[in-house]
Amino acid sequence: MKPAHDKVHTQELLHTLYSMAFLVEVRDPYTGGHLWRVSQFSTRLALACGLSKRQAVIAGLGGFLHDLGKVGVPDSILNNTGKLSDAEYAVMKTHPALGAQVLQGHPLAPLAMDAVLGHHERIDGRGYPAGLTGGKIAETARIVGIADAFDAMTSTRPYRKGMPVAVAIEQITVNLDAQFDLNFGHCFIELARSGELDGIIGHSDIGIPLHECPICGPVVVVQRKHKGAAAEFRKNSTLSL
Ligand SMILES: [Fe+2]
Repeated sequence: MKPAHDKVHTQELLHTLYSMAFLVEVRDPYTGGHLWRVSQFSTRLALACGLSKRQAVIAGLGGFLHDLGKVGVPDSILNNTGKLSDAEYAVMKTHPALGAQVLQGHPLAPLAMDAVLGHHERIDGRGYPAGLTGGKIAETARIVGIADAFDAMTSTRPYRKGMPVAVAIEQITVNLDAQFDLNFGHCFIELARSGELDGIIGHSDIGIPLHECPICGPVVVVQRKHKGAAAEFRKNSTLSL
């Protein structure tokens, strides 16, 4: 058993990782809780597939940190809501490697490295940055890749409305064993159909539903009764490794 002071130290180090992740979110606040949702989807998917609690925690951490490298992508590309040019897309595709570079000096880097580096790899080898295939892609990266794509599809952004869950599930289904891992994909589809993810889809990182503003896109409505919800969320999200 680890001594208590080791546990405290690990918790403090984990919080520094979360702070790094939030740097990405403040660069692109319209994603409103994307990292939290990807983290939640990843943890639940890992558990639903029978992975250990530790692996699920690592998947959740990877979900939070996966886009860390976007801190190094220029705003003109990051906030471009239209189609990226080939040159812009090439810059965007550097974010996994940039994230790995930022992360590598951190004492807990090995816990999140797979997700940061591999979440855009595809089972068929058509992903990036390395074009890895199938089982050569780390398990955590395969999990986070599904969670990330599902949230991207179901989230409403100022410039487009999120897809209904059933349509997003259909998209995952048709891309099984091509973009997405077959087993994790099946597991995720079952999980999404079960309704277990309903409290996460379309919610902010403090668990408050995102409401759509007809003028400026989604906004978070924080009611008086939710005061203190942020502190509560942080308390509940404390991880033990
Ligand atoms: Fe990414």
